[in-house]
Amino acid sequence: MRAVVCKKFGTPDDLVVEDLPDLTAGAGEVKIAMRAAGVNFADNVMVQGKYQVQPEVPFTPGSEMAGEIMEVGEGVDGLAVGDHVFAGAGHGAFAEQVVVKADKVFKVPSSMDYATAATFVVAYGTSHHGLTEIAKLQKDEFLLVNGAAGGVGLTAVECGKVIGAKVIALASSPEKLEVCKSKGADYLIDYTKEDVRARVKKITGGKGANVVYDPVGGKAFDDALRSTAVQARVMVIGFAGGGVPQIPANYLLVKNLTVLGYYWGAYHQLDPKSIARSNAQLFQWLGEGKIKPHVSMRFPLEETKDALNALLQRKSTGKVVVTNDV
Ligand SMILES: NC(=O)c1ccc[n+]([C@@H]2O[C@H](COP(=O)([O-])OP(=O)(O)OC[C@H]3O[C@@H](n4cnc5c(N)ncnc54)[C@H](OP(=O)(O)O)[C@@H]3O)[C@@H](O)[C@H]2O)c1
Repeated sequence: MRAVVCKKFGTPDDLVVEDLPDLTAGAGEVKIAMRAAGVNFADNVMVQGKYQVQPEVPFTPGSEMAGEIMEVGEGVDGLAVGDHVFAGAGHGAFAEQVVVKADKVFKVPSSMDYATAATFVVAYGTSHHGLTEIAKLQKDEFLLVNGAAGGVGLTAVECGKVIGAKVIALASSPEKLEVCKSKGADYLIDYTKEDVRARVKKITGGKGANVVYDPVGGKAFDDALRSTAVQARVMVIGFAGGGVPQIPANYLLVKNLTVLGYYWGAYHQLDPKSIARSNAQLFQWLGEGKIKPHVSMRFPLEETKDALNALLQRKSTGKVVVTNDV
């Protein structure tokens, strides 16, 4: 089978695509023929060797995918050869064949194509679970989203709108802000050009944002922290901009702010019921047409490095997908 392989930590350009031996499903596992794999910023961090759950080299990156079951391991119930499924893979998804634990595999609803299925769970799961279960975002609150046209950012905009919040979307270009607007964002700020604090103050009638959703870090986080309302909840989602923010505690005290460190993946062990609740709500919203996944770029498996570079170069909006149609 063809697979992308990371042989030394580095950049997407260091990845190679090569033939590897066919995989076999062990007990409790299924083997899936990959048709589409979602690209996440975290895949780049893993290729750099800096992810929080880091495989050793050589490994195949790619953390979520969809395809057809080729083989079912011993002791697996409810899944059969030929089923159309999507799965969280941890790593290994940028390959023609992927083996995953059966409890990470879900049947694809008949209305969903593979590209949508492969990109749905991580981004929507992070934003929906984070905003509802952790930040407890309420109707009519102001939600500020940094990197709002990105993978998790755009799903936060959508989820925020369905919850009934007033969404302030921040991104780096008019084109990206247009995408946020198409997903319902109420207020648009180009954070590379505008005075974020002054704009948010004006938008919120001087009060500030009630919830901040920040996958960017650095200056974007600092500006958002200074644009909060009293008793705001500030979600630390990621550091796509590279800078890990340092938070002045006096600022938290004065405004009664709560900063919420948040890693969605960990909640599968910490509180699986809340993940199940969140996924059920997301599939209901999807079925009702309240949310609609946005895939901006597709690349064949052999060009996976270009897919990963698109994220690093801030070229994509919503999700990027790697496909294997043969
Ligand atoms: N906590 C969790 O559970 C969780 C789950 C999923 C993802 N994440 C994290 O969330 C972050 C975003 O992930 P994603 O998959 O949504 O990535 P993405 O699609 O690439 O979006 C990241 C956004 O960040 C902005 N950005 C600002 N500076 C950037 C830079 N130097 N390089 C790249 N992007 C930059 C870009 O928007 P502008 O150009 O508009 O600034 C971009 O749209 C990552 O740090 C990821 O690890 C965390």
